[in-house]
Amino acid sequence: MSAPSPAVAWVAGATGYTGREVVARACALGRRVHAHVRPDSPGLDAHRDRFEALGAVVETTPWEREALAARLAEVRPTEVYALLGTTQARARAAAKRGAPPADYAAVDVGLTLMLHRACEDAGIRPRFVYLSALGAGPKASTAYMRARWEVEETLRAGDLPYTVVRPSFISGPDREERRLGERVGATVSDALLGVVGALGGAKIRDRFRSIDAASLARALVDLAVDPAAAGAIVETDRLRE
Ligand SMILES: NC(=O)c1ccc[n+]([C@@H]2O[C@H](COP(=O)([O-])OP(=O)(O)OC[C@H]3O[C@@H](n4cnc5c(N)ncnc54)[C@H](OP(=O)(O)O)[C@@H]3O)[C@@H](O)[C@H]2O)c1
Repeated sequence: MSAPSPAVAWVAGATGYTGREVVARACALGRRVHAHVRPDSPGLDAHRDRFEALGAVVETTPWEREALAARLAEVRPTEVYALLGTTQARARAAAKRGAPPADYAAVDVGLTLMLHRACEDAGIRPRFVYLSALGAGPKASTAYMRARWEVEETLRAGDLPYTVVRPSFISGPDREERRLGERVGATVSDALLGVVGALGGAKIRDRFRSIDAASLARALVDLAVDPAAAGAIVETDRLRE
């Protein structure tokens, strides 16, 4: 009998708040982890030190479909995490510098779908774990939520196995990047949801309250190998189970 193939993870967005924790969690569980960092990242050396200390391989393949497909065909990941996302502030800063577009269409949709297509081109069938957001929908009021819906729809129409995860706020005191508005929003909404929960609205509280990156990463890494999560949409309440 042949030995089962080892779990191999490819983490896109590895440098982000969630991505770092996914790399750490997957390494801790003994998976072979390839942490993708964009080659022009100003923090590349620091990311390399951090990820290699955990036992991960650092990948710096450029964001080009052919190059990604070629590397994915070599690595043959069994789970691919798509944890990329920009912000309006980052998009504005990129435009000011004259850098390539870095808005939701270019990053959240464009790079995520490039990764998905590159997996197909590589002839591999990893579980594609996509970090969407609670509120994604075709008629959502924000471009951010509509972008997430567009990616979700493409995954549903495609051939790769996938799991869509829709958290509410991803927030915690350990977030390095300063995002005051998001942190205040999460704190206020968690406080209100605590009251709702105490008044008997536990289901509403669990659906909308924030989750920190370490808890989210535990769930993502478990879901990636859970047969029942193939083709599933998992929202915040189930992420804590
Ligand atoms: N924060 C929330 O409350 C929340 C809630 C629900 C869903 N989400 C979604 O969940 C995902 C992860 O969230 P997070 O808070 O962990 O994200 P994050 O900390 O902002 O990290 C974003 C990741 O995307 C990469 N990225 C951004 N712009 C890029 C570009 N132009 N080219 C290549 N890579 C780029 C970043 O790489 P660099 O480090 O190189 O910039 C980083 O690895 C995002 O899609 C986010 O929209 C977030």
